[in-house]
Amino acid sequence: MNKPTIYQKIREAVDSIHKRTDIKPDIGIILGSGLGDIGGDVTDAVTIPYTEIPWFHGTSVEGHAGKLVIGGFHGVKTVFLQGRFHLYEGYPMEDVVFPTRTVCGLGIQTLIMTNASGGVNPAFEPSDLMLISDHINLMGDNPLKGPNLSQLGARFPDLSEAYNKDCLETFQNAAGKLGIKLHTGIYAGLLGPTYETPAEVRMLRTLGADAVGMSTVPESIAANHLGVRVAGISCITNRAAGMSGQKLTHQEVMDNSKKGAVNLSNLLRSAVPRLVHKPSAANGGKQS
Ligand code: HPA
Repeated sequence: MNKPTIYQKIREAVDSIHKRTDIKPDIGIILGSGLGDIGGDVTDAVTIPYTEIPWFHGTSVEGHAGKLVIGGFHGVKTVFLQGRFHLYEGYPMEDVVFPTRTVCGLGIQTLIMTNASGGVNPAFEPSDLMLISDHINLMGDNPLKGPNLSQLGARFPDLSEAYNKDCLETFQNAAGKLGIKLHTGIYAGLLGPTYETPAEVRMLRTLGADAVGMSTVPESIAANHLGVRVAGISCITNRAAGMSGQKLTHQEVMDNSKKGAVNLSNLLRSAVPRLVHKPSAANGGKQS
């Protein structure tokens, strides 16, 4: 038998999820390091361990649960990916973005990504949140490398609005109403798994980055390729290397992401219902 194509693998994963639930989610949310608990307030939740979905791997990083959860999130049909695969774990890009392509295959219109990242902007403090307005791909790789998967999208996708402006505005408004400090800035995605050197952090600042991390860029590219609207929020878990006089540890990242998760979950609770497509005048302005 021929090796299945990526498209066939996505169909298989989507079909296996459809066998477990009839819910057709409108929104997908990827929960990053230490941010997985947000999936807790999901009603009628159907939880599927990654190991039970064809072509998914289990997750290996502490703070990444490895479960897909579908259900109602403040009135919105939502699918959560609790845990993601990173390039630094040694997975090929195809595997890193496979869960993203699968949730996009479930028919979501909007993908919200969260992550833990280091603050490169000196004004950022640990546990602050930053709305991603754009990214710089410094991973040395791209999930669309290789023959184009024309069933998924174009050969040369436009990324001039990789992070959707309407989504940015919705999150900013929600943060304003809730009194949550929400920065806006540029996320630099690096391969990892080492944290950066202070010299690299200075370089990133010169390049215009506000935050640095080891995820999100591949998923953002894959979702944009599929024509899905993308939003991203970084929880600034630490000042980037050389900016605090302290060494960086994964423990610090986990501790501060727990602190930031409180604001992040409130922000998601408030913004997600406003992100579903605005009702048209035809249905009397009611949210469907
Ligand atoms: N650098 C890269 N990735 C990160 C950091 C950092 O300082 N903090 C959390 N993820």
